[in-house]
Amino acid sequence: MCGIVGYTGPRQASRILVEGLKRLEYRGYDSAGIAVLKGGPIAAGERPLVVIKRKGKIAELRKAVPKDLAGSSGIGHTRWATHGSVTDANAHPHTDVSGKIAIVHNGIIENYVPLKEMLEKEGAVFLSETDSEVIAHLVAYHYDGDLESALKAALGHMRGTYGIAAMHADEPGRIVGARNGSPLVLGVGDGEMLLASDVTALLAHTTNVVYLNDGEVVSMTPTDFRISDRDDQAVDPRIDQITWKLGAIEKGRFSCFMEKEIFEQPESIERALTGRLDMEYGSAKLGGLNLAKKDLHAIERVRVIAAGTSWHAGLVGCQLLESVARLPAQAELASELRYRNPVVEAHSLYLAVSQSGETADTLYAMREIQRRGGAVLGICNVVGSTIARESDGGIYVHSGPEIAVASTKAFTSQLAAFYLLTLSLARMHDMSHHEGERFLEELKAAPEAVRRSLQQRDHIQAIAKRYARFHDFLFLGRGLLYPIALEGALKLKEISYIHAEGYASGEIKHGPIALISPETPSLFLVPNDHLREKTITNMKEIKARGGPIIAVAQEGDDLVASIADEYIPVPAVDSLFQPFVMVPPLQLFAYFCALELGRDVDQPRNLAKSVTVE
Ligand code: G6P
Repeated sequence: MCGIVGYTGPRQASRILVEGLKRLEYRGYDSAGIAVLKGGPIAAGERPLVVIKRKGKIAELRKAVPKDLAGSSGIGHTRWATHGSVTDANAHPHTDVSGKIAIVHNGIIENYVPLKEMLEKEGAVFLSETDSEVIAHLVAYHYDGDLESALKAALGHMRGTYGIAAMHADEPGRIVGARNGSPLVLGVGDGEMLLASDVTALLAHTTNVVYLNDGEVVSMTPTDFRISDRDDQAVDPRIDQITWKLGAIEKGRFSCFMEKEIFEQPESIERALTGRLDMEYGSAKLGGLNLAKKDLHAIERVRVIAAGTSWHAGLVGCQLLESVARLPAQAELASELRYRNPVVEAHSLYLAVSQSGETADTLYAMREIQRRGGAVLGICNVVGSTIARESDGGIYVHSGPEIAVASTKAFTSQLAAFYLLTLSLARMHDMSHHEGERFLEELKAAPEAVRRSLQQRDHIQAIAKRYARFHDFLFLGRGLLYPIALEGALKLKEISYIHAEGYASGEIKHGPIALISPETPSLFLVPNDHLREKTITNMKEIKARGGPIIAVAQEGDDLVASIADEYIPVPAVDSLFQPFVMVPPLQLFAYFCALELGRDVDQPRNLAKSVTVE
């Protein structure tokens, strides 16, 4: 979704802003812009703030920004339209009537209509259809020589969510930021300061960061910064170190980030497991849970709250928790749970699962649970993200930055986290030491099994070439592979725009079978346990009705190979661990279909990496 970058220091601001926006591209956007306080002498009648905005890709903005644009402080933005269509005028930054104030905004100002009416009566002239523009005019309305206090006064009128960066031509070198529900992080450089909605925009310049909390305002100059809270009290800043390397946010030898991230999975799963396998006790070490053994032991049920791919990981996790740790567990869509007036039971453990740690639905559902006295742990990838910070403890999955909008490596790392948690809880109840050791052996082998599963790359590409022009697909799985079928269908939809539905294989005869024809392929995930034969029966039902079949099944499964039109073999692993080996072929299938159709794999239309609005 929308992204923010701010810079103040000795260097050419426009370059740093455009480059920072480029790093934020992955979040999803439809227009971009910058405002720079012009350096050098200002001619009579000339506006001191240079504002350049373009709809479309950053490349359009880059073309429009003069290479020699002087000025060493500025703010930039990538917009993902909510209020008002995708136009140059609706792109940020927005300015006030004098043209001296510029702001960029992530989030939604819910009461912008009455604010706009009030400001228009005061003489403000609006140039866009956005909710955000009111902020520029409100700051101007309160401005009395001090941008920080004017912004604070403006915030007092506003209802909604925001991450804001603002500047004023009369206060050269100062940038003021405010956060409420939309992330902002300060980058502390050497003689320069940066502000961004996401650390990836800062990484090329500094690894010293300060995460702002909701309600905080930061005022920064090249050499200094000050943070204050809602009550205007100074906040003691905590400087964190980003551990991500710059290389992790670059494509390297791959043609796009999604491809890179798919192939990184053996290492990223390994990272999720590192230091957490307790070989001595046949268990898992999860220090970040912040729960004493007796509290863990007292857990009677688990509820997962998540969205999208993270919800699919949660569905797998809940099945594991139930079948292995013998705990009733249920994965809920955060957007549903939040408004359902949920019963928060004692002895329930809530898990907020989120790659970004910023998904609004998940965050607000988590806060609702916490308000009702529930304990929520986070399973997050982004260190320092809001969910990670506001949860009562949790598990970082350590996948490293995930840049492609469609989630891949974060998913398998989330799975790894669920296997670890399941083991840890199971060992407190029914699971013996010996069983724990066996579970650990399988889990340790998962990265290598994924590596082997990825070796089907060329075979899957050839299949994708043959199938990419079908319009509808069914993805079918049972048991632990049912959520994997949902995830496979989601991947295909997200990046190739082919319609795909995930179903439980046993459910197709209750309706979806009506869709079957030679034009509707079914992709079956065939388990290697007691559900295999039942799945084969389902395959035959499809076959009898002329539906093409792609089957992903254990290597050497000749029967499946003989029934299916296409067979994708995956390594033989214990059935409990099959989700790990089944998902890479589905990611690759979606990826190669999207390539075949000439789609923008990393930034699919209409999608955003981190959905920070409802
Ligand atoms: C967006 C992304 C999905 C992602 C979902 C949840 O919709 O496009 O890929 O699965 O958000 O994101 P989270 O960061 O909470 O895992």
